[in-house]
Amino acid sequence: MNKLSIVKEFAQNQLKNDKTGHDFNHILRVVKNAQLILAVESANSELVLVSAYLHDVFDDKLIEDPASKRQEVRQKLTELGYPSNFIDQVFEIIDNMSFSANLAQKKTLSIEGQIVQDADRLDAIGAVGIARAFYYGGHFGETMYDPEILPRQQMDKTAYRQPGTVINHFYEKLLKLKDQMNTITAQTIAKQRQRFMLDFLEKFKSEWGQ
Ligand code: ADP
Ligand code: NI
Repeated sequence: MNKLSIVKEFAQNQLKNDKTGHDFNHILRVVKNAQLILAVESANSELVLVSAYLHDVFDDKLIEDPASKRQEVRQKLTELGYPSNFIDQVFEIIDNMSFSANLAQKKTLSIEGQIVQDADRLDAIGAVGIARAFYYGGHFGETMYDPEILPRQQMDKTAYRQPGTVINHFYEKLLKLKDQMNTITAQTIAKQRQRFMLDFLEKFKSEWGQ
């Protein structure tokens, strides 16, 4: 088995019990999105794919002890023979690509980081994005909708992690992603997915009786 297949298998094992919308199928969709973008952009594809496979493995909203998980990931990549500067770049991408890491100020990402960020963000929008938001909201005990609770405007990471409503999550994050895509490929896909989310929100509110 080559190194990348071992990284893939490692990620699959790590995320197999996830029930928040960040399971291995999310990872496979992100990898597929990354490959679509890689067909157009020139970048180090090994760095993109390793980062895509591992990007949710030590996320602090999903696991108990992110520090020791980071260590485990570093050890795994070292064992596989990845050079330490490659491993540093993987961590640099994963640490700086998330929506929450970019709330206070926009981080600068390498082209590889921009590709993984776009690939991940594409999976947060559109039909799958809608499903994932409700799945996540249910898992963490969020209310589906409350017309009395307005979407939050300015948020730091702590405020962002406080439960809101799932419908508000569209206004607080998901609808903003279209204009934050880095690559032309992701911008094009995001446009269609945005339209679908806006239609969904309109229908949802009309059925609700608003
Ligand atoms: P990042 O890891 O980029 O900071 P998030 O932590 O915002 O991204 O979450 C990734 C996905 O989890 C979102 O795209 C969404 O599907 C879901 N999610 C996160 N927070 C919420 C929330 N408050 N309500 C509903 N879904 C959420
Ligand atoms: Ni992700």
